[in-house]
Amino acid sequence: MRKKIAAGNWKMNTTPNEGKELVKNIMAGSPELKVHQEVYFFPPFTHLAAIAEVTGKQNFYTGAQNCSQHEKGAYTGEISTNMLKAIGAGHVIIGHSERRSIFGESHEILKEKSSAVIAAGLTLVFCCGETLEERESEQHYKIIDRQIKESLSHVTKDDMKKVVIAYEPVWAIGTGKTASPEQAQDMHGYIRTLLKSYFDETVASQTSILYGGSVNAANAKELFSQADIDGGLVGGASLKPEEFIAIIQALP
Ligand code: PGA
Repeated sequence: MRKKIAAGNWKMNTTPNEGKELVKNIMAGSPELKVHQEVYFFPPFTHLAAIAEVTGKQNFYTGAQNCSQHEKGAYTGEISTNMLKAIGAGHVIIGHSERRSIFGESHEILKEKSSAVIAAGLTLVFCCGETLEERESEQHYKIIDRQIKESLSHVTKDDMKKVVIAYEPVWAIGTGKTASPEQAQDMHGYIRTLLKSYFDETVASQTSILYGGSVNAANAKELFSQADIDGGLVGGASLKPEEFIAIIQALP
């Protein structure tokens, strides 16, 4: 069975103390996770070490929202995968649409970052997603294909065991507008056909694909019950303990 995952992307929110409190509340209020279920917290870098200390057990893990593509050196302000690993991060999000659009991260940079995450032995949470304009002009399949082809398809089949994909339509992120379960399922099914063509049938059937974009306690169950949706990458609702606990409870 594929892993079913609830991942909280906190973005630039919470202080370290607030973050610790949030994780404590969520872990205390969550049901015991089944073997195939996992929960990931993605706090800002500054709280990672403290949060990694309380996770790493009962299928709760901590990861980073970004990393440098470089190993070390004169890159002021950057954080390397080895630094993340050393403080207990097990996962890194790469290719979030905010990194692509606000920070100008290109397909090439995201390819290098994906390679850096894999080389460090960390789990890569690779995001893809189209804008509203791209969907309305029916470019969405082409866009997703390009994002995966350019920045992920170089990964070996074996290393794909450490990759989770998150499909996040940009028009659904932080807007309160969710893709319908049918729209999301349709794209997740398409992503599996891409995985089959770039890798093989095994990779296509074993890779967890999360949906992201205004997931909340009210819509999680229906989204997660779709055949190719293996959980969610959650922004806003992951900062509210009751909401995120309900999302965890909605995991199949
Ligand atoms: P949202 O964000 O749940 O607030 O829409 C999702 C994300 O950006 O990962």
